[in-house]
Amino acid sequence: MPLVAANWKMNPTNEDDALDLVRGVLSVARGHADRVEVAIFPPFVWLSSVGAVLAESGVKLGAQDTFWEMSGAYTGEVSPAMLKGWCQWVIVGHSERRLYLGETDEMVAKKTAAALSSELGVIMCVGELADHYDAGTSDQVVSAQVKAGLANCSADDSARLVIAYEPVWAIGTGKNADPEHAYKTMRLIRRVVGEMIGAGAARKVRILYGGSVNSKNVQQYVELPLCDGALVGGASLNAEDFAQIVKVTAEVYGHR
Ligand code: PGA
Repeated sequence: MPLVAANWKMNPTNEDDALDLVRGVLSVARGHADRVEVAIFPPFVWLSSVGAVLAESGVKLGAQDTFWEMSGAYTGEVSPAMLKGWCQWVIVGHSERRLYLGETDEMVAKKTAAALSSELGVIMCVGELADHYDAGTSDQVVSAQVKAGLANCSADDSARLVIAYEPVWAIGTGKNADPEHAYKTMRLIRRVVGEMIGAGAARKVRILYGGSVNSKNVQQYVELPLCDGALVGGASLNAEDFAQIVKVTAEVYGHR
């Protein structure tokens, strides 16, 4: 089943707006829950109240990050053991965390393994910077990120593992990757995942596209043969736009 994930990032700034947004999304997403897996990633502080709205709806809840230890003296961090009771999913290695918080591939690998060991599903983000794209080194950068990020994973993790290919130059910029570039990179990702956990298991790992996805351009990505859905930032803050992304994805996969 395809997955459409809403990464709210550090939005909205108050709980009432968060609840309005999730109710708006739910009113439409609920009708497609049998054809598209939908997951909402609010900020940590709204996980409980957004989760209460989503209860029994079939729409999943996720956290935008996690730490790699389960408990201890790690000020400000939230562990997979804590999230397990609230969420089904967690995002790791988002480019904004790599950029602003200095997250390394090694940290991403530790977070991925810790979250999987707590039975959370993991969306691991990879993607090249504009400089890499311009220099023609996207493939090297992305395959190194995938290899390093999956260093502690095995074939058993495949059903709960998702890789989001997000060219960093396309995130929040309104610039979209050419579908041909996205397709080639996803094919590379599938191959590298296969090298890491075995080709059979790699086929179960879903691959998403992310980077300025909206209701008008989502079709060209979810139509790609290797694309299993989308990770949506900005457009997920508008309930109508996000619901339309879910609807288009359901239609495309309904015809496969
Ligand atoms: P965007 O963000 O859709 O606003 O480009 C995507 C993401 O960062 O996951």
